[in-house]
Amino acid sequence: MKAFKNNVTKCRREFDKSVLQIKSEKSLQELRNHYLSRKRGQLTLLFEDLMALKPEQRPIAGQMVNELKKDIQEKLQSLKKTFKTEEEVVERTDFTLPGKVRYWGAAHPVHLFQAEIENIFISMGYSIEEGPEIETDYYNFGALNFPPHHPARDDWDTLYLKDELLLRTHTSPVQIRVMEKQKPPIKIVIPGKVYRKETPDPTHLPMFYQLEGLVVDKGITFAHLKGTLEYFLKTLFSEKIKMRFRPGFFPFTEPSAEVDIGCTVCEGKDEECRVCGGSGWIEILGSGMVDPQVFKNVNIDPEEYTGFAFGLGIDRTAMFAYQISDMRFFYENDLRFIRQFLLK
Ligand code: DAH
Repeated sequence: MKAFKNNVTKCRREFDKSVLQIKSEKSLQELRNHYLSRKRGQLTLLFEDLMALKPEQRPIAGQMVNELKKDIQEKLQSLKKTFKTEEEVVERTDFTLPGKVRYWGAAHPVHLFQAEIENIFISMGYSIEEGPEIETDYYNFGALNFPPHHPARDDWDTLYLKDELLLRTHTSPVQIRVMEKQKPPIKIVIPGKVYRKETPDPTHLPMFYQLEGLVVDKGITFAHLKGTLEYFLKTLFSEKIKMRFRPGFFPFTEPSAEVDIGCTVCEGKDEECRVCGGSGWIEILGSGMVDPQVFKNVNIDPEEYTGFAFGLGIDRTAMFAYQISDMRFFYENDLRFIRQFLLK
């Protein structure tokens, strides 16, 4: 009887071990045959052994084998169900349905355009500089030759913070920061956000992007400024773009010039063009030769060095390049608008 009991326990242990290895319906079937097959199954063999026991021992022994049989059957049955459900899931999946599209994040059109501009200057040997968006009055105005209370300050509607701090109204203060720490030759562009007290409308925003340029070296002339801007604008827009220089005023450049390009929308053919107002020209950037006073403010000798500078609005220029009628579209986060630029 003891030997019989041991056999039952051994059989149960082996089954428990083998059942863990089952990975497919086929191996499940094999396991089933091994234990439950009517001819040479392990349980059939146990029942045969049982017959060799004494008659009074048989009921208990029979109960043991029956319990084992029931456990094995239940276990195999539940395993079968799990295979079934996996199979059914595969059957129910319709692989011909369109997949779920996930949109990846992507660069914003203004940043893409900024990179396009930067690359043109990088190809001309410029490097990129950056500066803080919170500035002091000195860097934003004073060092750039705006005397205190000078009416020129009114052209830059400034958002003042406390303690002499303000949100920079242009990227020009970074010219000063760079010239303070780096001696010429200097050849840089400075992209970044600027802020002005403006009510948003199709051509004005309280926050927008500018790109500043600064070149300082011995013998830099207005011809360098003109040639550089001409190359830049022709590369950015097209070889055919028309451009003109108009006298202008900026406290930090002397002489100063504003640069216009031929209207990209009507090409000067529509007297009622909403972009150029019918003039055929759009103002695209401010520029000039660095004022000697600015050099003095950063301890660069204006007798030895000359330089030119320029500044353009990135969003504004993007508007003309992409022919967008309202600058606010850039910041409304309407994905239907934003996504158009990804395929460019
Ligand atoms: N900072 C000027 C503005 O915001 C643009 C500008 C004009 C920058 C002339 C320059 C420059 O560097 O030389 O309107």
